[in-house]
Amino acid sequence: MAAQVLDLGVDLADPETFAKDDLGAYWRRLRHEDPVHWQPAAAGRPGFWVVSRYADLMTVYRDPARFTSEQGNVLVTLLAGEDSAGGKMCAVTDGARHREVRNVLLKSFSPRVLAPIADRVRRNTARRVARAVLLGECDFAAEVSEHVPMATVSDLLGVPESDRAFLLERSRETLSSGEAGQSEEDGWSARSDILLYFADLMEQRRGGDAEDVISVLVNARINGAPLSREEIVLNCYSLILGGDETSRLTMNDVVHTLAGEPAQWQALREGEVGADSACEEALRWATPTMHFGRTATERVLLGDREIQPGDIVTVWHSSANRDETVFPDPDRFDLARTPNRHVAFGYGPHFCLGAHLARVEITALLDALRRFTSAIEVAGETARFHSNFLAGFSRLPVRFTPDKAGLSAFAAELKAER
Ligand code: HEM
Repeated sequence: MAAQVLDLGVDLADPETFAKDDLGAYWRRLRHEDPVHWQPAAAGRPGFWVVSRYADLMTVYRDPARFTSEQGNVLVTLLAGEDSAGGKMCAVTDGARHREVRNVLLKSFSPRVLAPIADRVRRNTARRVARAVLLGECDFAAEVSEHVPMATVSDLLGVPESDRAFLLERSRETLSSGEAGQSEEDGWSARSDILLYFADLMEQRRGGDAEDVISVLVNARINGAPLSREEIVLNCYSLILGGDETSRLTMNDVVHTLAGEPAQWQALREGEVGADSACEEALRWATPTMHFGRTATERVLLGDREIQPGDIVTVWHSSANRDETVFPDPDRFDLARTPNRHVAFGYGPHFCLGAHLARVEITALLDALRRFTSAIEVAGETARFHSNFLAGFSRLPVRFTPDKAGLSAFAAELKAER
């Protein structure tokens, strides 16, 4: 089949594209008519490939030798021409070094190390949701989801309680803030504050035997040599980048979706579907990271398109997770969907390190919702995240109807613990 070039006037590099349009029809058309699509260069930025089918996305993810992450793995860095963390931060490192650093990080992600963290996630989430339900009406994004993932990442890193407010505040100011029009300087200054903070913490943990990520990274030896300071600090920071907004946006999205899907909400509440299966559909539906990207290292044929060395190749989870060849009736939110092989966590050697923790967070939220509230309504104007990378709500006013029996049982549990 001859390659087709579709120009539907959609600029995927522009965050406004996602703020104003529902791209469902656009993705369907690309999957059918131009699955490996060329987004042409525009003022000040190069063109890039847009991969929309599930199977093609897997081909790219499986092959880090021909599709490298080292020049960046999101449009912002890829279009800028480089990622200064390339070769140092796990997510933007390939080959042997990636495997070595990922193996070091995995020590902090073992089931034994994660068990107490997961336990705290469940308690923290239950408390926050119970409090929000008792408030009746609140901005769910500010009251609940802003706090859970950041507390989880802080637990992983072993950030002391007293520093967490600082970390939350500075990370909110980094470039990926939910507000449009935020200055780039504010973002950079917040980012360097966080990096300096980790550099300081790193020195305090040197020589210790704790199992938090900072201690593990600073005390690790790879082939007898320690990791560089930059590698340590950037990999700590990458957990904030990777673990905070993604989980937050998924939590907001599932609350919003359940408010509009009363039958699904009832099925969850009455235990007809389990929280584990619901969590997978919540992830597929939210798909908080819309794309990731790679750079081709050699000439590759993908579908019927010829990709040249140096070309930017973006793979779109938001499309692959609705690919009708993999998900029957893909635009139906179905908490009982099985199988549900979504790619919200990516695939291949860079598969999300935090997937288990993210699942714990989302499952804990679903459990708490079904225990403490009988109904969820959207209670005001929502605001969307402004980004070409992350999708979801930055403001989500909701009204909860309390489930008095569930809340009383929880209050009794808390009392018994004291
Ligand atoms: C990698 C998504 C939560 C840490 C990834 C990738 C995706 C992803 C798609 C692959 C990136 C690529 O191939 O270039 C998500 C989603 C989450 C989530 C949707 C929540 C709903 C977390 C959490 C953490 C985390 C909670 C840490 C606590 C990481 C790290 C990597 C990664 C370190 C890089 C792994 C590597 O390069 O080997 N994530 N993530 N993520 N994620 Fe997550």
